[in-house]
Amino acid sequence: MSERRSRSFATRIIEWQRTHGRHALPWQNTRDPYRVWLSEIMLQQTQVATVLDYYERFLQRFPDVASLAAAALDDVFALWSGLGYYSRARNLHRCAQAVVAEYGGCFPTSSQQLAQLPGIGRSTAAAIAAFCFGERVAILDGNVKRVLTRALGFDGDLAVAAQERQLWAQATALLPQRGVEVYTQGLMDLGATLCLARAPRCAVCPVRADCVAARDGTQQDYPVKSRRLQRGRREHLWLWLCWRGQVWLTQRPDTGVWAGLWSLPEFESAAAFDSACGDWPGAGESLPSFTHVLTHLDWTLHPLRWTLPTRLSAAQREAITDTLPAGRWFALDDALAAGLPAPLRKLLSG
Ligand code: ADE
Repeated sequence: MSERRSRSFATRIIEWQRTHGRHALPWQNTRDPYRVWLSEIMLQQTQVATVLDYYERFLQRFPDVASLAAAALDDVFALWSGLGYYSRARNLHRCAQAVVAEYGGCFPTSSQQLAQLPGIGRSTAAAIAAFCFGERVAILDGNVKRVLTRALGFDGDLAVAAQERQLWAQATALLPQRGVEVYTQGLMDLGATLCLARAPRCAVCPVRADCVAARDGTQQDYPVKSRRLQRGRREHLWLWLCWRGQVWLTQRPDTGVWAGLWSLPEFESAAAFDSACGDWPGAGESLPSFTHVLTHLDWTLHPLRWTLPTRLSAAQREAITDTLPAGRWFALDDALAAGLPAPLRKLLSG
């Protein structure tokens, strides 16, 4: 792309952002890196409309990086509950602690340094540095990959690291000399509102004249990524063990789905549960099954509520809970105040 053309691409994005972009989102009109960072992490894989409520609640509870760093991880999870991709919450907490420990509570100002912090990838680091410090540096999140590969007709396979590096280089070459903040927001807004994955609104796009995909009618061919996710399936029986209105919850491992959240014990199958429960006193009741859709997995859960008799000695209770993954009893209200996966919150609020 020629110098003249590249300037005109950025200029058109900037002009479009000023008139048609989004200007009143709560993380805009600030250069506070804490607020910008929080929004960028929440907006990964999550729509603006969903993030708005969470963002305000989070900021009320943790108004600055020091308060977040000092928080208990469970409280962070509780505020994140329902947003999904919980490793983001864990990294958020870790990152706040690193900013306090390594930088005295002030975020570093270069994208290079920001990208060293937990949970901040190259594109997020660039977004924070551009928005807060005006650094002239390219972003390349999922939406922006779609915008740029279409506009440039970039058909390299982004599953190949060398090809992705190429696209980063081209994204950098397109940066404006001035106004990187507006340009960066413009690319994001264009990706979110016009350059849509399935039905792009090319007729009103400011870079249509330069766009290879719009010219050729090949919008659906971009971006090229060969390693498609293999979706898996998984099924479990989900044990809701009840005693005197309390529920037995177990904390999930630090990695994987719902990392660190409190959840119900899982069994591979109804048969596995039957052989584990043996002769437990009380009665079981099957509740409606549901499928939780994750990026890589359809996970079907079959909840079973097993109510233990009210009169049960501590020894009898322990004989039962000793066969379950480590955990503890929660009163229902306490459970609902803890960090729970969204489907469990729904189940328990029934
Ligand atoms: N998605 C990621 N970052 C964003 C931002 N700053 N504004 C709107 N959508 C976004």
